[in-house]
Amino acid sequence: MESVNREELSIAVVGVGAFGKNHARVYRELADDGVKLAAVVDADLARAQAITAEHGGRPFASVSDLLASGLKIHAASVAVPTVYHLAAARQLMEAGIDVLIEKPLAFSLDQADELVSLASKLGRVAQAGHLERFNPAVRATWPLLTRPMFFEVHRLSVFTPRSLDVDVVLDLMIHDLDIVLKMAKSPVREVRAVGLPVLTGKVDIASVRLEFESGCIANLTASRISTERVRKLRFFQPAQYVSLDYSRRDVFSLTVQPTEGGVPQIVPYKPPVSSEEPLRAELSSFLRAVRERSQPEVTLADGRAALSLAIEIQQQMADHRKRAHLEDVGSILHVGTPKDSGSGAD
Ligand SMILES: NC(=O)c1ccc[n+]([C@@H]2O[C@H](COP(=O)([O-])OP(=O)(O)OC[C@H]3O[C@@H](n4cnc5c(N)ncnc54)[C@H](O)[C@@H]3O)[C@@H](O)[C@H]2O)c1
Repeated sequence: MESVNREELSIAVVGVGAFGKNHARVYRELADDGVKLAAVVDADLARAQAITAEHGGRPFASVSDLLASGLKIHAASVAVPTVYHLAAARQLMEAGIDVLIEKPLAFSLDQADELVSLASKLGRVAQAGHLERFNPAVRATWPLLTRPMFFEVHRLSVFTPRSLDVDVVLDLMIHDLDIVLKMAKSPVREVRAVGLPVLTGKVDIASVRLEFESGCIANLTASRISTERVRKLRFFQPAQYVSLDYSRRDVFSLTVQPTEGGVPQIVPYKPPVSSEEPLRAELSSFLRAVRERSQPEVTLADGRAALSLAIEIQQQMADHRKRAHLEDVGSILHVGTPKDSGSGAD
């Protein structure tokens, strides 16, 4: 078995836009842990150069250029727009490089399946970039889970013109789909969903109700056109309410406990939450799997499961718009161009 256990790990970041540049920064910050940011790849070479000037490494305009350079790379983050995840990750894995692929894993289930099978065939460590798994508030919540029966989840963002290649389900809600799937620990029985394009040509606001085989229900709302930023997940389980704020990294529970007098008592509890940056925890976990040649904490199969549910939600949203005769209702920006409006997301 190949081993890079004691070696310094040479890392590449592919795509250093709004989010990928954070990967570059964190890898540089991990220098004391035997990590070297060796290469930064971006189709916009000036952007790659700006990042290497700040954090080190050699700039390249494409993965092909990086591979042609002969520079030894052990592992890479793929943070290009979702539509290009497969192409970039395939090239890297075929060159023997382990990959962390940003969420959503891919644009379609066929692409996700190809990624899963490539990683398995080529023996690569491949992780899906579901960052919220590494949010310290989420980590503090796992020990509280018993039998969640009802989730209420809100992920609202103020509009910014980013990630508009995908709709709000693939952009934002997918974080919560991954978390709820892990917490509910039961197959999804039914999906009901409504979603509308408002500011862009794709769905900007979505409301989803999931019912699991266990009877557990999850209501999820995601918006990228809100007036406020909210990142909350709350759930009820026997005798307990748990509230998690992803942004404030805050968790608390209220537990109903019987008392001798017969009047139940409500006991509050706040578990300790670490202050580690989620991206640092995520990349450290990925590099541990690379060194140990072990299964990453978030597998490509997890990424595929969240994507599969997101695609089912997109289908239900499209069906709803059809039932409501909303197929031709364009977004505000697309008013007057009904032909290319509304259905772009799905
Ligand atoms: N985990 C999270 O919380 C989180 C947050 C934001 C974005 N993301 C994900 O990260 C990815 C990137 O999002 P972003 O907001 O940074 O996008 P972005 O558009 O800001 O950046 C993408 C970068 O990739 C470059 N690029 C495009 N095609 C390329 C190619 N073929 N090869 C090399 N470089 C290429 C672009 O020049 C750009 O600099 C998306 O998949 C997105 O869903 C994840």
